[in-house]
Amino acid sequence: MTTPTVASTPALLTVKNLSFRYKQQVALREVNFEIDSGEIFGLLGPNGAGKTTTISCVAGLLGQYGGELAFRGSSFRPFESSGDRQHLGVVPQDLALYEDLTARENLEFFGGLVGLRAGDLGQAIQSALILAGLVERADDRVKTYSGGMKRRLNLAIGQLHRPDLLLLDEPTAGVDPQSRNHLFEALERLRQEGRTIVYTTHYMEEAQRLCDRIAIMDRGRVIAVGTASQLADQAGIPGADLERVFLELTGRSLRDG
Ligand SMILES: Nc1ncnc2c1ncn2[C@@H]1O[C@H](COP(=O)(O)OP(=O)(O)O)[C@@H](O)[C@H]1O
Ligand SMILES: [Mg+2]
Repeated sequence: MTTPTVASTPALLTVKNLSFRYKQQVALREVNFEIDSGEIFGLLGPNGAGKTTTISCVAGLLGQYGGELAFRGSSFRPFESSGDRQHLGVVPQDLALYEDLTARENLEFFGGLVGLRAGDLGQAIQSALILAGLVERADDRVKTYSGGMKRRLNLAIGQLHRPDLLLLDEPTAGVDPQSRNHLFEALERLRQEGRTIVYTTHYMEEAQRLCDRIAIMDRGRVIAVGTASQLADQAGIPGADLERVFLELTGRSLRDG
């Protein structure tokens, strides 16, 4: 009897043997992972691990990398192809907002840049303001916002055109716990809508709470990939938290940086 073969769907994003160096500094050494549609995928590692460099290669900001990227199984060249970049939304580590404009004006400006027009733009802005919890403050200038509100607006802008893949680089840097919870709620709402998100952080609690699967990075390498509980199993300490897993796998503490 033959077993029927199930055609397996390719991953949304495949990162294969990704390598990168900045002049003297090797930043990525054959990084491998796959991201499935609908998941929040975490890149967890201390400062200098290579998270931002990985995001920058995937986002099309850096082009001179080794290895290959694929999107739904087809070659993906975001540095060269603006068509490929349209699949992406990028929320950079540094805020990219016009402080003298209101939230609504920022959303109008950035929405225009990604090709949203008239009715579509109006609707996208309304849902973005709801997502960011900024409906009431939409017409106030950004310079009057708290750090957490600016972060939420940054996120709202990055996802405005409903990208297939949303890339967030350390979105909670410098954010107080309450604003962090707001941001997590917004991300969880996006996940419920079936969006796919890459989330980098050096906070293991964030990765543990938010991410469906996590790649642990250290010194330019991905040293393990899986759910938090799979990672603990792989490290031979079932049930352990990610801090202990990192220590077990690297001999160093995540907090050492
Ligand atoms: N513009 C740059 N020029 C030279 N070295 C860099 C630059 N950006 C990052 N690096 C180095 O590359 C490595 C990876 O950095 P990065 O990707 O920023 O890590 P992370 O985001 O995990 O903190 C580190 O050793 C860092 O010092
Ligand atoms: Mg970084």
